[in-house]
This record gives sequence, C-alpha cells and structure tokens, in this order.
Amino acid sequence: MENFVWYNPVKLHFGDGVTDKIGKVTAEFGKRVLLVTGKGSAKASGAYEQVVTRLQNEGLTITEYSGIKSNPIVEDVDKAAALGKEKKIDVIVALGGGSVIDSAKTISLAMKYDGPAWDIVTGDYKPKDSTPLIAVLTLAATGTEMNSVAVVQNNCKQQKIGFGNKYMYPRHSFLDPSYTFSVPKNYTAYGVVDLIAHSLEAWFGEGDATLSDRFIIAIIKEAMKNGPDLLEDLENYDLRAKIMYAATCALNGLTSNGKKSGDWGVHGIGHSLSVVYDVPHGASLSIAYPAWMKLQKDRIPERIQELGKALFEISEVDDIIYKLEYIFKALGSPVRLKDINLKIEEGNTRERLKNAMVVSKVDGVVHKLTQQDYETLLDLMA
Ligand code: NZQ
Ligand code: ZN
Repeated sequence: MENFVWYNPVKLHFGDGVTDKIGKVTAEFGKRVLLVTGKGSAKASGAYEQVVTRLQNEGLTITEYSGIKSNPIVEDVDKAAALGKEKKIDVIVALGGGSVIDSAKTISLAMKYDGPAWDIVTGDYKPKDSTPLIAVLTLAATGTEMNSVAVVQNNCKQQKIGFGNKYMYPRHSFLDPSYTFSVPKNYTAYGVVDLIAHSLEAWFGEGDATLSDRFIIAIIKEAMKNGPDLLEDLENYDLRAKIMYAATCALNGLTSNGKKSGDWGVHGIGHSLSVVYDVPHGASLSIAYPAWMKLQKDRIPERIQELGKALFEISEVDDIIYKLEYIFKALGSPVRLKDINLKIEEGNTRERLKNAMVVSKVDGVVHKLTQQDYETLLDLMA
C-alpha cells in the first residue's frame, strides 16, 4: 500500500430538504452572491426558486450567470469571472450538474486572476486563492461536489481538460436527492455509467490497496443493483439517494487511497468524443470503456479477471467485457459510435477524433496509449 494524505474539506449536506440551511450557510461568506446555473433545468424543476428564496430570505444580493452548457466551455468561465469581479462577489453558489459546478469551480479561481481562465485549466497559471464556492447538486454523476477537479472545454483548441486545484473544493455541497427527480432517463443512465467508470479508473490504476478495491466493487455493485431500478422509477427518493451517494463516493478519494494513481485513459478518450461531437460525458464512457478493455485484454488479463470474479463471479476475460458492455447497454447508454449515429468511415469522423486524441495527448497514467492504440480504439468503438 502506498503512503497517502487524504484531505477533503467539503462539508456535505445530504438528504431531503437540506437546502433549507443554504441561506445561513452562504451568508457566512458575505452578502454578494454569484449564482451560476445551466440552461434551465433548475428553473423547470423548482430547485432554482427554492434556493433563490432561501438566499433572499437572508438578505443576500444575487447576481446571476446562467446558460452554462453541458460539456462546459471556457468562454462562459471568462464571462462569469468578469461579472464576478465587476460585482465584487463574495461567494459563488453553483446550482446544477457537473458542468455548472465545474464551471463555478473554475470561475472561483479565475476571479483571483487577471488573465484568461484557460491558463488555469492548462496549468500555465496556478492560482493560490479562490472565491468561496457552495455547490447545490442536481444530477448524480461526476463526484465534482466532493472533489477538487474541474473539466472545461476549449472548442477553438479542440481540447477538453480536467485539472485539479485544492482551492476548488466547494466549502459546502448540498445534495438533496429529490432535486434529481427531474433528471431524464438518458442522463440518469449516463450518471450511473459515469460513477461506474470512475470506479473502474481507480480499479485499473496502480498500487496494492485492497480496501480501496473493496470500496470500488461495493460502489459498482450499488450502481448495478439500483441503477436499473431507478430507470423504471425516476422519482423514487431512496433509489435517487443511493445513486447520488454512490456517485459522490466514486470520486471523492475513497477509492484511490493507498494507490499510486488511477488510470484515466478512458476519460481522455471520452473527452475527445465530447469535444468533437458534444457527446454527453457518461455516453462517451459507455462507448470508450468496453473498447479500452478489449484493447487491454491481453496486456492486463489478470486485473480484468479479478474484476470479473468480484463483480460477476466469472473469470473469462471476453465474458467479463461483454457483461460490462451489456450493463451499459441495458441502462440505455450507447456502447458504439454508431449508436449515436457516428460512422467512423464517413466524412472526416475518424480523422477528427484521432486529431482530438493527438492534440490532447490522450493517455492513461498507468496503461500507456500509443497512436496505433488510438486507431485500434476507434475501430473497436465503431
Ligand atoms: O443545463 P441544464 O438546464 O441544467 O440541464 C442539464 C444538462 O442538459 C441537465 N440537468 C441537470 N440537472 C437536472 C437536469 N435536467 C433535469 N433535472 C435536473 N435536476 O442535464 C444535462 C447534463 O448536465 P451536466 O451538468 O452536463 O451533466 P453531468 O453532471 O454529467 O456533468 C458532466 C460534466 O462533468 C465533467 C464531464 O466531463 C462533463 O463536462 N466531469 C467532471 C468531473 C469532476 N469535476 O470531478 C469528473 C467527471 O469524470 C467528468 O469528467
Ligand atoms: Zn467521469
């Protein structure tokens, strides 16, 4: 087992009605609030009205930046950070899914920097301070509510980059499972895929940490058990709660302690699909993971077998990959590019995807990918 430091300062408020405290909690950081939201789901679901009313009841002044898109773009971060500086914002409240919260995390750093936010995303500038951030999660998937990572896209450069900074941890995260009732079936499924994928990225990392491995298996089993039931009963509070907590635990450090690192190669491949064709994150992973496992099956058969034994009590590598693919498919998430109407040999699809992988130097931390591997992966994903 590797040495590790587990630092996670996020105060998580989990359960029905937890945002009743958001006004008081936010007021501790100051009076002027920048409220960051997405395209409209929070208004439609009623979460927006509830949160805004609770902030206003504490006498807080709200400036709003809305319209953050899924697979968020750096232009919005720059605009919102400029607005935040102009209004002398004290605290940011992010109300939405991973795209809104990741944007707000980056805004919280960009408000302390005079240059473009992309410098922060690429690591060319390393901020040492941030505007306090409070997250209200409306979609269970990414784990962003309890980690210090954000993923932002730059369409001009054709890059989608995940980066970490310890000043990006939300000070508080509010997770009311009933706020996720309105998430449609497809995004609910993508969220389940994403949390399984985070667990797998840790599984295929490096280091002998058996307890972390057991957490990984438990989280995936929780998703396999409750994910399909939830898709049949989208407003079931208990199922929403179980999936929400599983998604948080899949990327808050729990599954990586004692390991040198996770792999994250599959996320790199998924980000390339998202940056070129705006594929929803979870959907990109249900396409990329089976392909990646097929690529790796002769390189790391034992690790795939251990996974299969722990999850399905089977040890034939091909069967294990098929089973995982079947799980994604049964959730209604695509497993091939053709499932999202992308034909790899039509037009310049292959070239564009390969180029995005090359530009982003898509690679795993542990299981290194070559340019020949990119070609093989594209064939396997087709
Ligand atoms: O924009 P609005 O109107 O809010 O609609 C969103 C969006 O269309 C909608 N939605 C959110 N909450 C809803 C809802 N619809 C109905 N009811 C609700 N309660 O769902 C759509 C997708 O939202 P988005 O935030 O994009 O999804 P998700 O939470 O999956 O976030 C995906 C982003 O997070 C990044 C991904 O790469 C992607 O950019 N990730 C962030 C990570 C992190 N920070 O740790 C790790 C992940 O691996 C991932 O890379
Ligand atoms: Zn992910």
